[in-house]
Amino acid sequence: MELFETKFRESMSSKVALLNRITYYIVNRKGKQMRPMFVFLTAKLLNNGEVNERTYRGASIIELIHTASLVHDDVVDESNKRRGFFSINALWKNKIAVLVGDYLFSKGLLLSIDNDDFDLLRIISVAVREMSEGELLQIEKARRLDIDEKVYYEIIRQKTATLIAACCSMGACSVKPGSKEVEVFRKFGEYCGMAFQIKDDLFDYGEMKIGKPTGIDIKEQKMTLPLIYVLNNCTKSEKSWLINSVKNHNRDKKRVKEVISFVKEKGGLAYAESKMHSFKKEALELLRTYPQSPYRDSLELMVNYVVDRKK
Ligand code: IPE
Ligand code: IPE
Ligand code: MG
Ligand code: MG
Repeated sequence: MELFETKFRESMSSKVALLNRITYYIVNRKGKQMRPMFVFLTAKLLNNGEVNERTYRGASIIELIHTASLVHDDVVDESNKRRGFFSINALWKNKIAVLVGDYLFSKGLLLSIDNDDFDLLRIISVAVREMSEGELLQIEKARRLDIDEKVYYEIIRQKTATLIAACCSMGACSVKPGSKEVEVFRKFGEYCGMAFQIKDDLFDYGEMKIGKPTGIDIKEQKMTLPLIYVLNNCTKSEKSWLINSVKNHNRDKKRVKEVISFVKEKGGLAYAESKMHSFKKEALELLRTYPQSPYRDSLELMVNYVVDRKK
């Protein structure tokens, strides 16, 4: 990870001073870096603990694309906090945040093109397409407020799980190009990613300090699993009250708090937790079809971290 960080920093550099100032700001407030860890551990598991330059590039590409998606996501969600500090849009405004996101996206894609990593480029391009589709599907559903559990899973698969799937399949592809492991680990990453986003959506219902705002999903009319479950398991009048709250009172802080309390009372969080644990279980079962090794043990720790993490 130390070596990765140096390479990652370098991968962002630009001749434009303003860009360098902003990317400097970004790398100094780094996140959990779970995605590069997934890339390295998958590669190591499949290649007796050895990684190569392609693995490092794969990890940098993923983290660049991930960072770009967060910069854009905070514009879309009108969120002013990220990683415990101001978001790029809060400090430099939307115009600049959009352009910086584009810059990071292109840097990620070029890193694979310049090194003829076309197999890795295909994997990451599919993920980028799906992330955009997922965020747009979410907006479409937020407008019509007609999201059911199946659509919710489709949204989180596209906007989040795909990128974690890409981590594991790129890790595999970096050391074993063309092998069946590329697909097996894509699936493994997808299960982890599903559990990961359900956890993120649970954070939004809590009051823990996680370095970004909580309680903003309802404000953005984002209906996530806890609320979807409660909508399907309450009386008709409760349902109209909930829908009316999200539709017409989503910027009323007191009303949003009441919705959150109602969802908690009706077991929405417990239900989402149980679903999160089923995805975790699928991931672990798949992983255990491989022989035990220090890398498999570490990947298991990662899977547990996805659901137990505190931020
Ligand atoms: C946040 O991802 C975006 C989601 C998909 C929920 P992370 O929680 O991995 O973000 P950082 O990189 O650690 O800040
Ligand atoms: C994350 O969705 C998806 C992407 C960044 C593509 P959220 O909007 O829930 O993520 P946070 O909560 O802002 O990190
Ligand atoms: Mg967001
Ligand atoms: Mg969120």
